[in-house]
Amino acid sequence: MAVKPIVLMGDPRLLQRSEEITEFNTPELQQIVEDLLDTKAAKNGTGLAAPQIGVLKRIVVFGIDKHPRFPDIEPVPLTVLINPQIEILTEEMDEMWEGCISVPGLRGLVPRYTKLRYQGFDQFGQPIDRIAHGYHARAVQHECDHLDGVLYPVRMKDMRMFGFEEIIFAEAELQQTAEIE
Ligand code: NI
Repeated sequence: MAVKPIVLMGDPRLLQRSEEITEFNTPELQQIVEDLLDTKAAKNGTGLAAPQIGVLKRIVVFGIDKHPRFPDIEPVPLTVLINPQIEILTEEMDEMWEGCISVPGLRGLVPRYTKLRYQGFDQFGQPIDRIAHGYHARAVQHECDHLDGVLYPVRMKDMRMFGFEEIIFAEAELQQTAEIE
């Protein structure tokens, strides 16, 4: 087990299309998955994609018990998803502030589809086939985008809604206070 250094925005590895896994249940694959899970845990992230630790393979991990900032968000089961296929099931999108471990300190308001089906495999080659909504669907879109070299700022519609986490959330708290009053 190992916490790996994070590849940061600006590194060309984050702009490439990652390759499919062709062999499951191998020590090499298990090592990558353990590194991803350890690194995700160390960074306290919702998810992590293999290119973010410099491995250009189609592997993502995601899952959250509950979001510290948004306690109303439903938990997402801890999932290892390999060679994912996404089918969008709605035209509806919603917007939410996203961050990314490869884009530290920043947040952006990102539109995402609210419902999708995802399919793929776990590290043992067992098939995964789920319908996801809301925050779960958002996490899947964010992480799977990494496998195609897409970082969340590319998905943003309004670059004015992009900034430093400390500033944005301090501002949001002020607005909340104003609304209560
Ligand atoms: Ni990310």
